[in-house]
Amino acid sequence: MELVSSKWVCAFLLCFWLVFSGAYSVEGLRGNSKVKGVNLGGWLVVEGWIKPTLFDGIPNGDMLDGTEVQFKSVTLQKYMCAENGGGVNVTVNRDVASSWETFKIWRVSESTFQLRTSLGQFLTCDGEQCSVSAAAGLPSASQTFFIERNNGRVHIKVMSGAYLQATVGNQLTGDYPGMPSWDDNAATFEMTIVSNNLHGDFQLANGYGHNEAKEVLKRHRNSFITIDDFRFLYRHRINTVRIPVGWWIAFDPNPPSPFIGGTLEALDNAFSWAQSFNIKCIIDLHAAPGSQNGMEHSASRDGSTGWPTPDNISQTLDVIDFLASRYARHPALLGIELLNEPSVTMVPLDTLVSYYRQGYQIVRKYSQTAYVIICQRIGNADPLELYQANIGSHNIVLDLHFYNLFDTFFVNMSAADNILFIYKSREAQLQALNNANGPLVFIGEWVNEWNVTSGSQSDYQDYGKAQLEVYDAASFGWAYWTLKNDRKHWDFEWNMRNNYLQLAHILGAESEFSSHI
Ligand SMILES: *[C@@H]1O[C@H](CO)[C@@H](O)[C@H](O)[C@H]1NC(C)=O
Ligand SMILES: *[C@@H]1O[C@H](CO)[C@@H](O)[C@H](O)[C@H]1NC(C)=O
Ligand SMILES: *[C@@H]1O[C@H](CO)[C@@H](O)[C@H](O)[C@H]1NC(C)=O
Ligand SMILES: *[C@@H]1O[C@H](CO)[C@@H](O)[C@H](O)[C@H]1NC(C)=O
Repeated sequence: MELVSSKWVCAFLLCFWLVFSGAYSVEGLRGNSKVKGVNLGGWLVVEGWIKPTLFDGIPNGDMLDGTEVQFKSVTLQKYMCAENGGGVNVTVNRDVASSWETFKIWRVSESTFQLRTSLGQFLTCDGEQCSVSAAAGLPSASQTFFIERNNGRVHIKVMSGAYLQATVGNQLTGDYPGMPSWDDNAATFEMTIVSNNLHGDFQLANGYGHNEAKEVLKRHRNSFITIDDFRFLYRHRINTVRIPVGWWIAFDPNPPSPFIGGTLEALDNAFSWAQSFNIKCIIDLHAAPGSQNGMEHSASRDGSTGWPTPDNISQTLDVIDFLASRYARHPALLGIELLNEPSVTMVPLDTLVSYYRQGYQIVRKYSQTAYVIICQRIGNADPLELYQANIGSHNIVLDLHFYNLFDTFFVNMSAADNILFIYKSREAQLQALNNANGPLVFIGEWVNEWNVTSGSQSDYQDYGKAQLEVYDAASFGWAYWTLKNDRKHWDFEWNMRNNYLQLAHILGAESEFSSHI
């Protein structure tokens, strides 16, 4: 009797120990530690703000896909307008420009473009002396225009050679007689570039054109991140890299236009380098077909979010299948993240949950142990929405991105406010999630930057320390965004070299290191 009960006590204690040590360490990492990771952002998925020079050689580089423009007739002094956002004839009758007067560019070549209205229709000029309408769902020759530029002024010419003009009746027609001069005339418009902030893989490849883009991306992929960076990470005791990839990786070496092959070879290299430094890899599907958030980092063409359609979702699952089958048995694989930052306004929760469940099963076809990582929707979403969703039974992780940025809430915060926010709000949220019954928690993106304009080195050190202390409690761990960045405070290597981020106090002494460095 006594023997039995003490056995039970032992079994109970053993379970207790396993639950506690198990839940807070990640299988496959050296020293049973948790993820202390860095993102390899801006490498295999281009983000212009991370490395602006990538775009420097593009002719007419301020007219890339997704650039928003407005046109004002110099004779009428009125803006071109797609009434109701599209569907009817275009007029030239507005004093003030707003969304109906703003057109998104689809670039065809450095001098030919298509113009998309706020509701997604394309300007059309059909036949001789057309009245320009805004009714086409998909563009072809009748929706393609030459745009000739001269200091802020433009002429817009249809493929057959006629120039558009603003008529005295405020219509837009394709019948200007002959060749206009740059003086004030009915065929001359002032073009305002309202926004030009998409600089992703689509813009780069379509901006340079295939051959030039191939050269630019080859140089970038071979030089931006190399084995030396893995050595650097190893020396600083980083045990994981999160690697953003785009859906076109599954079509290497010849992905659909305009995307450029070569990312698969780079990912293979990253896995080998990681393995040689005992670093693990998380493959993060950052850009899904159609774009899951309309941003450059999901390779959106013009800011639209076309992912949530059955076709795109099924293609995305094929990409996960491709990645899982290729890397499941690689010793450096830690996990696969099914989708980065789906938009809360554009991606319905049930669509996302269904995708995540199918993605989980696909990864499990190839690996019982690889972590399957799901990402919280961005925008105003409650992380708990994915907690109760029953996406999979084991080794499942929820990725949250913690930035004290991108929200007016942080705009006027002082250094001290920011630090307090980490210790109070972030910590409470993390503890609540750690204690909830559900996936492990991963702070898969965070940065030692804020919207404080004059932070000193020691302010940054304190802020970095607060974040590391708090995020280190996440049950799966964390990953810094990002390894390299033109903006130095975002750049992990700059932070380490300049002592703005101090990892030592959370990493402690790990004996294996002293002997390996
Ligand atoms: C567009 O303009 C043409 C030519 O003026 C006209 O025949 C047509 O009815 C107009 N369409 C609409 C939808 O207003
Ligand atoms: C995604 O879906 C959109 C809308 O259905 C479609 O136009 C687009 O071609 C799809 N994208 C890819 C890459 O298949
Ligand atoms: C920082 O604050 C300014 C206003 O002071 C705001 O315009 C900007 O968007 C903020 N930046 C970020 C990245 O949140
Ligand atoms: C930030 O402070 C400025 C100046 O006091 C104020 O005009 C602005 O409205 C504040 N912004 C927010 C988002 O609180």
